Amino acid sequence: MPQHIITKVIYNKELKKGCFRMAVEAPSIAKEAKPGQFLHIRCGNSGDPLLRRPVSIHKIGKKSVEILYNVVGKGTDILSKKKAGEPLDIIGPLGNGFTVPKKSGSVKILVAGGMGVAPLLGLAEELKKGKNKSIAVLGAKTKNHILCGKEFKKLGAEVHIATEDGSSGKKCLATDLAREIIRSKKYKWHEICIYAAGPIGMIKVLCKLMEGCSLESQVSLEEKMACGLGACLGCVVDTQAGYKRVCKDGPVFRLCDVICE
Ligand code: FES
Repeated sequence: MPQHIITKVIYNKELKKGCFRMAVEAPSIAKEAKPGQFLHIRCGNSGDPLLRRPVSIHKIGKKSVEILYNVVGKGTDILSKKKAGEPLDIIGPLGNGFTVPKKSGSVKILVAGGMGVAPLLGLAEELKKGKNKSIAVLGAKTKNHILCGKEFKKLGAEVHIATEDGSSGKKCLATDLAREIIRSKKYKWHEICIYAAGPIGMIKVLCKLMEGCSLESQVSLEEKMACGLGACLGCVVDTQAGYKRVCKDGPVFRLCDVICE
């Protein structure tokens, strides 16, 4: 059940220019949270900005949760200035999160575009507990935009980098690199499970690549949100089962259910 709490910031560090990792005290949320779920955060102390900001849960501790966010507007700018010990108004965990198979055995390919690493790192942690083999394909604009490579490695994941300008790893999109890896390792389709998170453009490309494949794939969708609770219908996406709310029915969907036209 989502909880509305006033928590305390443990730390709020700038990892790269404009990209912050924040940890907050939240034992009750940490107990319930699953990778792929999100927090809805009131960034300002007054009513400005009015709307909360949805931010993916990045890591789940015993008594805390971490988020990873880019400063993209007024709300996240205010958030980036919070200091340790300051109060923060959050609701969570919200949404449905990734489904992690109980049995290990198949190969899990995690495809992250930009800030898509945020929900996928927590997933890699969960997959490690189940002794799954994980391959993380991290896509970014340039070498300076790559996030969490070391953390994925620490979790035992095989890490592959794709950059748009070729300044690190392969010069291509994360989706192209993922396809190349699947082909080069000659995995059988039923041995692979794909988890992806990133901008809608990347998800659309993934949709095309996976057309006709019977691969198990789950994607975390990014969408602008207002209420974050399923009430305003401001975040709907088209799926095989009709319009679905990203905040309530997602943000994680089976790729084959999402209509990406
Ligand atoms: Fe209101 Fe999703 S943000 S229904």
